[in-house]
Amino acid sequence: MKLTVVGCGYLGATHAASMAELDHEVLGMDSDMDKVAALNSGKAPFHERDLDEMLARHIASGRLKFTASYTEAAAFADLHFIAVGTPQLPGEHAYDLSHLFSAVRQLAPHLKGPAVVAVKSTVPVGTAPRVRDLLNEFAPAGDAIEVAWNPEFLRESSAIEDTLRPDRLVLGFETEHSWAETVLRQCFEKIIETGTPTIVTDWATAELAKASANAFLATKISFINAIAEVCEASGADVTQLADILGHDVRIGRRGMQPGLGFGGGCLPKDIRGFMARADELGVDQALTILREVDAINNWRRERMIDLAREQLDGNLTGKRITIWGAAFKPNTDDIRDSPALAVAQKLHELGATVTVTDPQAIDNARKTHPELDYIDDPSAAVQNADLLLHLTEWPQFSHIDPHHLAARAGTPRVIDGRGTLNTETWREAGWTVRALGRP
Ligand code: UGA
Repeated sequence: MKLTVVGCGYLGATHAASMAELDHEVLGMDSDMDKVAALNSGKAPFHERDLDEMLARHIASGRLKFTASYTEAAAFADLHFIAVGTPQLPGEHAYDLSHLFSAVRQLAPHLKGPAVVAVKSTVPVGTAPRVRDLLNEFAPAGDAIEVAWNPEFLRESSAIEDTLRPDRLVLGFETEHSWAETVLRQCFEKIIETGTPTIVTDWATAELAKASANAFLATKISFINAIAEVCEASGADVTQLADILGHDVRIGRRGMQPGLGFGGGCLPKDIRGFMARADELGVDQALTILREVDAINNWRRERMIDLAREQLDGNLTGKRITIWGAAFKPNTDDIRDSPALAVAQKLHELGATVTVTDPQAIDNARKTHPELDYIDDPSAAVQNADLLLHLTEWPQFSHIDPHHLAARAGTPRVIDGRGTLNTETWREAGWTVRALGRP
């Protein structure tokens, strides 16, 4: 099939490359010329495992290319995926839908015949009819354009895997047995035929599928982190507790790793956007739980600051603190709402000299946090440090031998904010070890 992907950020670039992998002919469209040039040279403007290789391979095969022209995109295919970003409005909880509506508005005048517009962007429930109305108003083909809702559940760092082998496919349509359904089933045929659960539903359910999934994932993380606070106060071990709970198949261990909490461009924004939409719908009380989820998540960052202060005898001024981690999670260079950087910045504001290291995210972190010091080598970063904080659980960090590191540190003191360091080995190596949620 021929298809386009409008908006080539994390979601769109991954979707475009993955659709080429499924043997489709794909034209990615983005109004950022630099991004288009990078993608056409087989390079994503962000770090995602295997994506550059896949981009390069399909650009070479001719199945994938990128453009900045809506005219070209509209002429290329009759199936258009929309994957533009829907960030949080500055100073508000609600989504900024301007990129979505602008993309639809710019594509519409070029749609002269029947087409399917399949939206993947995360939105508040009730957005699909607004997209349909825009297309009806501005597309010459009018109501011959069908709108489909196809939420995406991919995680950064396993984006391609999640796209090609998703846990489920959700397809939302205005009416049953539509032409759009036939088109999307054909597009995803190779995924569906492997037995992937495929749920065909209405627009609102498809929109809510994404909002509720992210709300649940955030709740699960904040739940275990709330329990971590009780563990800290009572001398229990939250990591063991999470394992114990996780053996119950109704609970499950995945997505319940205790620690510094969630960040990134999705979970924090999506729980707030969901609350804002519930408020508009007059059911805000139904989602007050998410206010707590957000608050618990922010407390973990405060708790880390308190623990650091405690370890440094109540005085942060002039203390040398090394932070392992800048990315919001491992295997990405994404620093949006990174818990590690939030802690780093706060410690700097409180008078500490903060040195940050990260395998991928230093360049991005330096742009937004020039006040911090950066160093590539995690062992060298610990030289003369008064305190080491482990805040993003890159596997590289847990493989470092704490014995030779102890000699480099000013004082061998560490706080594990992610629960993945072997605290016993670190203690044996002479470190004073504290960990969130552990005795
Ligand atoms: C999240 C969802 O997991 C995806 O399903 C969804 O498609 C995506 O948002 C989106 O809306 O686009 P992502 O933000 O890439 O994906 O990352 P996650 O792996 O969910 O991690 C989010 C944050 O939670 C990270 O800061 C991570 O460190 C933290 N986390 C995750 C925990 O603290 N504990 C866990 O058990 C899991």
